[in-house]
Amino acid sequence: MRIDILTLFPEMCNAYLSESIVGRARAAGKVEIVCTDIRNYTLDKHRRVDDSPYGGGWGMIMQAQPIYDCYCALSAQLGAAPHLIYLTPQGKTLTQQRVCELAKMDSIALLCGHYEGVDERVIEELKPEEISIGDYVLTGGEPGALVIADAVVRMLPGVLSDDECFTDESHFNSLLEYPQYTHPYEWRGKKVPDVLLSGHHENIKRWRRLQSLKRTKERRSDLLAGAELTQEERRLLGL
Ligand code: ADE
Repeated sequence: MRIDILTLFPEMCNAYLSESIVGRARAAGKVEIVCTDIRNYTLDKHRRVDDSPYGGGWGMIMQAQPIYDCYCALSAQLGAAPHLIYLTPQGKTLTQQRVCELAKMDSIALLCGHYEGVDERVIEELKPEEISIGDYVLTGGEPGALVIADAVVRMLPGVLSDDECFTDESHFNSLLEYPQYTHPYEWRGKKVPDVLLSGHHENIKRWRRLQSLKRTKERRSDLLAGAELTQEERRLLGL
């Protein structure tokens, strides 16, 4: 898979995406990630990419031309137009479900806005999918692009060691993950639950499932609507 990030801050993005699991996935050729500086596409002799809003108001707006030319150059280089995503608090909130769908695509491009947004006409022209990473406002789209790139890369085949590592984790089955423990057995008087030391895999599995269900009910009962539950589990949760 290839992920392109169109940004005014390519070094910021590359720094994060060169470390840890994503950095290793890139080095192993499991994903190609390219961060492109939108400023390279400005036709302005002072290399400007933003200007004040028509109608007045606070802040600066990113101009349409550098963004449009940057995306067109990328499409020409790839020989096909990649699925374009614009990071904006006005978009649909990102979910694990959408992350899994994006991970199946050959190529996505993440457009990061900065300042007070981008000229609406480039949005009309390119018709990107608009994604928000939550109901709060950031200074730019970069953290959102990094969130998407990170979440997508870890779903690619061979990036995490085996498939089980994400079938159990939070949000995979519309359930939050069960609590995890490691050595030592006792810490500040708190012991690891005995069942986890029993070596009885069926009991461990049952205990973990129950913890997942309890946590989800306590913390995010809204998620239960999308979860597959047995009759017995529904009864247990009082549903
Ligand atoms: N840019 C600014 N705020 C954002 C948000 N919440 N999600 C995605 N992109 C953004």
